[in-house]
Amino acid sequence: MTEYKKKVGLCVTGSFCTLSRFLGRIEELAGLFDLTPVFSEAAQTTDTRFGAAADVTRRIEAIAGKPGLRSIAEAERVGPEGLFDLLLIAPCTGNTLAKLALGITDGAVTMAAKSHLRGGKPLVIALSTNDALGANAKNLGELLNVKNVYFAPMYQDDCVNKAKSLTFRMELLTETLELALEGRQIQPMFG
Ligand SMILES: Cc1cc2nc3c(=O)[nH]c(=O)nc-3n(C[C@H](O)[C@H](O)[C@H](O)COP(=O)(O)O)c2cc1C
Repeated sequence: MTEYKKKVGLCVTGSFCTLSRFLGRIEELAGLFDLTPVFSEAAQTTDTRFGAAADVTRRIEAIAGKPGLRSIAEAERVGPEGLFDLLLIAPCTGNTLAKLALGITDGAVTMAAKSHLRGGKPLVIALSTNDALGANAKNLGELLNVKNVYFAPMYQDDCVNKAKSLTFRMELLTETLELALEGRQIQPMFG
């Protein structure tokens, strides 16, 4: 019997230093899952020392083998058309985390998350932000308590210079997704 790859929406947000390290992992994920990129506006438009936005988004689309969703109108289709088995936000900025916690839907990624969650399917957040244990701690706490929302394991990446920073463990992402598809949160979540 043919085994079909699970369909995963890969939402990419503006954590640019993480993103530059994450591209290799996206290739690994593309071997295991049928990926469709979804880009936040910042990911689509911000050129940084880590690369030009157009180059980075094109590269992710090339790895996935299909164009990404870039607008609210495109992302609105996620729920009604059942586009994905799982939605992954990786890397997820503090900005996007805060919007999700507050129910703000003003871009392709937040729209995709809202539309996907409406169908009761898993959303995995792979957080990378230097205010995770500061201004965003309350939003992290809020989302830890939301049904069908799962987190990739995260750790303090530089507790001396960035005491409030958390970033996700890229090497545990595949396992995180496999468990979330079964309705389970990978443990331990921190450390
Ligand atoms: C070079 C650079 C690196 C950044 N890295 C991060 C990061 O790792 N985490 C984060 O939360 N925000 C980071 N930001 C800030 C976000 O890009 C900014 O908050 C943006 O509004 C996020 O929008 P989005 O969540 O819609 O993608 C970075 C910005 C720049 C210019």
